[in-house]
Amino acid sequence: MTKNIAVLAGDGIGPEVMKEALRVLDAVSKREGVKFNYKEGLIGGAAWDEFKTHSPKQTLDLCRNSDAILFGSVGGPNNERHLEKWNKCEANSILALRKEFNFNANFRPSRVYKSLIESSPLKREVLEKGVDLLIVRELLGGIYFGEHKTVKEENTKKSIDICEYSAEQIESVTRISFEASLKRSKKLTLVDKANVLDSSKLWREVVREISEEYKEVRYDEMYVDNCAMQLVTNPSSFDVILTENMFGDILSDLAAVLPGSLGILCSLSVNKDGFSLYEPPGGSAPDIAGEGISNPIGQIRSASMMLKYSFNMDRAYSDIENAIEKVLNAGYRTKDIYSEGDILLGTTEITDKIIEAL
Ligand code: IPM
Ligand code: MG
Repeated sequence: MTKNIAVLAGDGIGPEVMKEALRVLDAVSKREGVKFNYKEGLIGGAAWDEFKTHSPKQTLDLCRNSDAILFGSVGGPNNERHLEKWNKCEANSILALRKEFNFNANFRPSRVYKSLIESSPLKREVLEKGVDLLIVRELLGGIYFGEHKTVKEENTKKSIDICEYSAEQIESVTRISFEASLKRSKKLTLVDKANVLDSSKLWREVVREISEEYKEVRYDEMYVDNCAMQLVTNPSSFDVILTENMFGDILSDLAAVLPGSLGILCSLSVNKDGFSLYEPPGGSAPDIAGEGISNPIGQIRSASMMLKYSFNMDRAYSDIENAIEKVLNAGYRTKDIYSEGDILLGTTEITDKIIEAL
């Protein structure tokens, strides 16, 4: 079996953590008898230098001819944001890919590794029961894509942002979420604001009906304000959270702080045909790029998610997750998750340990 992977490393720490993720894939490839064919494409500021655009046609074509996209990170230093190279770089790269490939579902898992509990801002007793949740965010609808306008009125101005959802849009991401929950703990919570919003009422109607087809999945519903509170006080109670675009944007940032570092997060965006993009949502961290201290775990876990969700290599996925956990349990840390008594390693060295543990 050969898999073509579009590798878009991007800016900042993107290239250095990508290199490590590919080393882990190579280690898996030998054992599983799969050949990975990496096809590198430019994106973000790196693409700007050569093509004067953040998402060149060459890169989009390369993605279209691949089995999956492995994305690094894009964006430049804060004090250079006024330069054309960095201006709207994130939106022009990642939002362009979302639109180009109609990625309508976004998976943002949040797992707290037992050995990193001390790095989390939450108390040990809140996390001890274990946190391993998945936010599935609808990515192409709602207030993000409704009409936006500002009109002048006599002595003032008025702005309007429309939140729109069709039953078809909801149905599509709902089916993707129920299928995902079958691969996990088989519990799904719909998060909405159905006590106020019509769009949320439609979400409930559609999701409830589909939930009848998935009898083995425990299904419940929760208002978004309550969910924000529960994520902080009782995060262990969640498995899959399904929600609309903007609620998902906000809740996923909340859930992202639970594990203790942005450097270990991974995510995927998928369309109706199952074509997916995998990326660590932690950002390009240009301030530490090139120093060899960045945390490669988020990029490695993104690659590992690709094995599970795009290539059905569930065993390889679990092996990588277990290897990472073993390395963390042994006290090895990069700088972002280091505390006294741990063993401090660089980007390459901690990957060596993960490959060894595989
Ligand atoms: C995210 C980001 C984007 C979003 C921004 C950069 C437009 O916050 O991926 O969560 O809101 O979708
Ligand atoms: Mg966001």
